[in-house]
Amino acid sequence: MRTPEPVEVTRARYDRLASVYDLLEWAPERARFGRWRARLWRHVPPGRLLEVGVGTGKNMPYYPSDATMTAVDISPRMLARATRRAARLGRDVRLHLMDVQSLAFPDAAFDAAAATFVFCSVPDPVRGLRELRRVVRPGGRIYLLEHMRADHPVLGRIMDWLDPIVVRLMGPHINRRTVANVTAAGLAIEAVEDLTPMGIVRLITARA
Ligand SMILES: C[S@@+](CC[C@H](N)C(=O)[O-])C[C@H]1O[C@@H](n2cnc3c(N)ncnc32)[C@H](O)[C@@H]1O
Repeated sequence: MRTPEPVEVTRARYDRLASVYDLLEWAPERARFGRWRARLWRHVPPGRLLEVGVGTGKNMPYYPSDATMTAVDISPRMLARATRRAARLGRDVRLHLMDVQSLAFPDAAFDAAAATFVFCSVPDPVRGLRELRRVVRPGGRIYLLEHMRADHPVLGRIMDWLDPIVVRLMGPHINRRTVANVTAAGLAIEAVEDLTPMGIVRLITARA
């Protein structure tokens, strides 16, 4: 594996994107992402919940109403937008500037955790997923909505070739093997749901 890039690079990238992020995502959000978010959050029981890589707060409308919500992001500018969205929605969310690769929470601090379209950008995804395993109580669940490398061998190879270009232009990696990364982090996979052909977008439920 290549050496992960410093997290400052990710932070700078999302700080730059923050002001146009919602606009760029407007069409896919309406077409599919909104539906997929609702599908993920339908599974999440109330309790002490952590969202990592909260971005501009697009999942906030779907949070369980009686949950105690904490959310983190590495980008101050994305987080500022999330703060404004929480206020607009009247949601009580504890927001922190924090790297998922080294979370400042004690072990077993949460009943469950969730992330949407995040582990494509985290420099060392297995390290981040291990942190989720640590901060979620044993037996608690981790819910992920992520795009990843296609299962199809030819398309998978094409994604490998294109990845360095996409990372430079837009930020996220398009060839992450996120299901394998979840297992490598020591989480037990409970369900993997393909939301697109060839497994490019998947909803993963795992147990800490
Ligand atoms: C593609 S955006 C997705 C935002 C949001 N989850 C959504 O569904 O719209 C990825 C987010 O992950 C955050 N992120 C990337 N690496 C991170 C890290 N190491 N720790 C915390 N957040 C991170 C980025 O700053 C960005 O806000």
